[in-house]
Amino acid sequence: MQNRLVTNSDNAALNQATIEIDLTRLPKHIAIIMDGNGRWARAKGYIRSLGHENGVDALRRIATASAELGIEYLTVYAFSTENWKRPKTEVKALMSILVKALRKELSTLLDNNIRLQAIGDILLLPEDIQKQLKEVIALTAKGSRMALTLALSYSSKEEILRATRLLAEDVRKGLLLPENITEQVFENYLYTRGMPHPDLLIRTSGEYRISNYLLWQLAYTELYFSPKLWPDFTKEDLLLAIAEYQKRERRFGLISEQLNENS
Ligand code: FPP
Repeated sequence: MQNRLVTNSDNAALNQATIEIDLTRLPKHIAIIMDGNGRWARAKGYIRSLGHENGVDALRRIATASAELGIEYLTVYAFSTENWKRPKTEVKALMSILVKALRKELSTLLDNNIRLQAIGDILLLPEDIQKQLKEVIALTAKGSRMALTLALSYSSKEEILRATRLLAEDVRKGLLLPENITEQVFENYLYTRGMPHPDLLIRTSGEYRISNYLLWQLAYTELYFSPKLWPDFTKEDLLLAIAEYQKRERRFGLISEQLNENS
């Protein structure tokens, strides 16, 4: 097997620099905050929903490229709980783009052996979307190459509160003793139960925030911020993020020498 992927970047700033990726040290789980659809549309004089439509194209590009590379989990922030407060017309447009994308992209998911998953307060979504989502999740459940998880109507603080309520309920029922609540036990009550924590978080559009996304799960994640607006984000940009990730030393609170002892 070829262990290195070398590609020429078309990124103007890098002036045809070479991006080199070690395929044996890929992040297992990449999380993305797909930001900048609105600004992309405004800069071109388009309505905002066109930015979101082009955002779906970027997501297809990045999901396909991730699966081809060997990434096992890709988790994208598609709609936050706070996004419900956007103007009604935009929420409606986003929901209609989502339902259309779920219908249209089923074949992309099947062709690439990707299983779709969703995290968030799914019951708040319009019924047609819930139905469509359930259908695509069931039809792609055997996709073994990569899990693509959509965070929809998602808030990390809400996820942690929900986990706490469920856990308290189990304590009340006598199923669990407070002294037995460990990190591992707590994680079983999160939406992301059974998934590894993200190794790399990418946020586009030059914003440096976490915005209520996977707060528990990102505790030791490497953060990467790209100036590109999401609809412009390409496979090369993904490779740049992975190359940067591979330069970082992940110490998980230890010192370098300890990591070398363990390796
Ligand atoms: C942020 O851009 C993006 C969103 C709120 C939605 C992300 C949605 C998609 C990429 C498409 C739909 C997704 C799926 C899974 C079908 P913004 O609107 O906040 O941009 P701005 O900050 O420039 O205004």
